[in-house]
Amino acid sequence: MKLTIIAAVANHNVIGNENRLIWHMPADLKRFKNITMGHTLIMGRKTFQSIGKPLPGRNTIVVTRQEDFDSQGCLKASSFNDAINIVKDEKEVFVAGGAEIYEQAIKSYYSRKMFITRIFADFEGDSFFPDIDSEKWELIERNDYEPDDKNAYPYAFFVYKRKIGRPKKNP
Ligand SMILES: NC(=O)c1ccc[n+]([C@@H]2O[C@H](COP(=O)([O-])OP(=O)(O)OC[C@H]3O[C@@H](n4cnc5c(N)ncnc54)[C@H](OP(=O)(O)O)[C@@H]3O)[C@@H](O)[C@H]2O)c1
Repeated sequence: MKLTIIAAVANHNVIGNENRLIWHMPADLKRFKNITMGHTLIMGRKTFQSIGKPLPGRNTIVVTRQEDFDSQGCLKASSFNDAINIVKDEKEVFVAGGAEIYEQAIKSYYSRKMFITRIFADFEGDSFFPDIDSEKWELIERNDYEPDDKNAYPYAFFVYKRKIGRPKKNP
């Protein structure tokens, strides 16, 4: 099983504010849908609540410490490692945020790839993507796009691969 992290990240690593996405970038939403369709997503309880419902065509695992949290029929995991145990027989599983979950995923032995949409704009934010350590992650693809009538900001699709010398397996 390998984990793939997927995120949209603005300048200064901002990913959200007051538990919502700040921008509307249909190109990124489309990319997210295309890449994750048919797969399992792991997400934190706050991100799940911010989306408000399970995303169609994908299984969702909600990570929460609350035993009685209503996950609307989605699977629940009591920790990030618990989520990994649940999906251990799948080939590729996506980590869909938010900040707390990305922080744990980027350090995980199982994380091998990242799809990052960079949005080249400044936003007020209270949630951040972790710094990407170039010693550990290699940028293998980058495609840049100008703003258009649907997407207000310049953006780029990045793909990173973990370099050799993976972190130790989670305890
Ligand atoms: N730009 C993007 O690509 C993107 C993607 C996703 C989210 N976001 C944004 O990110 C923000 C949310 O991020 P966030 O960091 O505040 O919240 P989050 O990571 O979505 O969820 C945090 C919650 O997850 C649970 N959790 C985290 N680690 C855990 C662990 N080890 N064991 C058990 N439960 C654990 C806890 O839930 P309980 O409190 O229930 O125990 C914690 O409060 C929002 O603004 C959202 O819009 C942006």
